[in-house]
Amino acid sequence: MRQLLVIVLAAGEGTRMRSAQPKVLHAVAGRPMVSHVLDAALAAGAAHVAVVIGPDHDKVAAEVRRVAPQAEVFVQAERRGTAHAVLAARAALERGFDDVVVMYGDTPLVRPDTLAALRAPLTDGAGVAVLGFRPQDPTGYGRLVTEGGQLLAIREEKEANVEERAIRLCNAGLMALDGRAALDLLDRVDDANAKKEFYLTDVVAIARALGRTAGVCEVAAEDVAGVNSRAQLAQAEAILQRRLRAQAMEAGVTLVAPETVFLSADTSFGRDVVVEPNVFFGAGVRVEDGATIRAFSHVEGAHVGPGAIVGPFARLRPGAELGQGVHVGNFVEIKASTLAAGAKVNHLSYVGDSSVGANTNIGAGTITCNYDGFRKHRTTIGANAFIGTNSLLVAPVSVGDGAYLATGSVITDDVPADALAIGRARQVNKPGLAARLRARLSAGLAPKA
Ligand code: UD1
Ligand code: MG
Repeated sequence: MRQLLVIVLAAGEGTRMRSAQPKVLHAVAGRPMVSHVLDAALAAGAAHVAVVIGPDHDKVAAEVRRVAPQAEVFVQAERRGTAHAVLAARAALERGFDDVVVMYGDTPLVRPDTLAALRAPLTDGAGVAVLGFRPQDPTGYGRLVTEGGQLLAIREEKEANVEERAIRLCNAGLMALDGRAALDLLDRVDDANAKKEFYLTDVVAIARALGRTAGVCEVAAEDVAGVNSRAQLAQAEAILQRRLRAQAMEAGVTLVAPETVFLSADTSFGRDVVVEPNVFFGAGVRVEDGATIRAFSHVEGAHVGPGAIVGPFARLRPGAELGQGVHVGNFVEIKASTLAAGAKVNHLSYVGDSSVGANTNIGAGTITCNYDGFRKHRTTIGANAFIGTNSLLVAPVSVGDGAYLATGSVITDDVPADALAIGRARQVNKPGLAARLRARLSAGLAPKA
């Protein structure tokens, strides 16, 4: 096994995003771009990961620590080019690795396989290797200057002559370097060019001049698509959604209309899950075997147990834990609540900060009043209970196993197990009063005598 160091460049400002947030924190499929890149690096077996961030990018550092606590973060104080950025991680390079791979934090669609292909020439003794791709429009990319399958140099657009500009094969940006030669190669890069920057791409010609070979592997443009603008962010999102839908179906999920279902990178499905059209999965969702998510549901940070049915038009918010066979129907919102096996909340309800026992039925229009304007409080409902239609449970409150709440109850006190609670004023009928009232009004008198 060759020891791999991955250096992720993420010091860019991302001016074209027009955002208060560093570019690499913008999400695709519910996950920041830099985290996708870290995932790929770790999945490719990186022994060590270094991330180069810009000054004042504490939020990027925090995200890196969250996703890859073992990664080392370096700050590039001044943006002086891609080779300069790599050298910000000098301390990591000095530790000595067999292979060094440079990735960009704004290129989130790279797969572990792509990295394996990039590294392959190193095992055959190459000093450096890059990925080539053929974009629709090569403007702005470095061109790969080759001769008989050999990579001679990478010419940046600004330095390229007319002939070189006509080359369609472009540099994807990722680079693999022989770990033993990497520092020497990088230290030889200078900034004698149009942009007065230290170009990482110069390493190719430098390695050749030192008698090393340079490898190139051509990959699909969509695997190496970089994001510089909101429009490109949306393109990356579309590509990733297509991949995630294909993976879900491959794993045994029925997506009735795949192109209308939006997934997160971490959405997890069991087998024989059915997802109807127009469903959105935010981050942190696990759906178990045989569950059905019906049309127009919004699901985020939730666990849906085996055989459960959710929707249509349901909203599961973070902390929704649905046990086996639970039903959550239309216009129901569940937040930070556990519903045990067989519980049903079928219509027009809000269940928040609650636990609901097995086989309990919650009638239409039930609300757990969990917020008093200052703090959140919990509602606990036992098993086999019946919550009558349009009940309000004013938390903190608990309802025991087998209890029965009358329709329209406002429950402010705990209800013991097996009790019947009527939390409303008794109805009063006043015989004849409606007719007398009508008579007074039609005689032009005030309603009250
Ligand atoms: C680079 C390549 C080009 C390639 C293109 C692919 C060089 C000189 N050119 O050009 O051949 O076709 O990517 O997209 O490498 N960064 C830093 N610090 C810096 C400069 C850049 O961290 O000082 C980071 C950026 O945040 C970005 C990446 O490095 O993630 C690439 O930099 P960018 O300025 O986009 O390079 P390009 O001009 O696009
Ligand atoms: Mg770029």
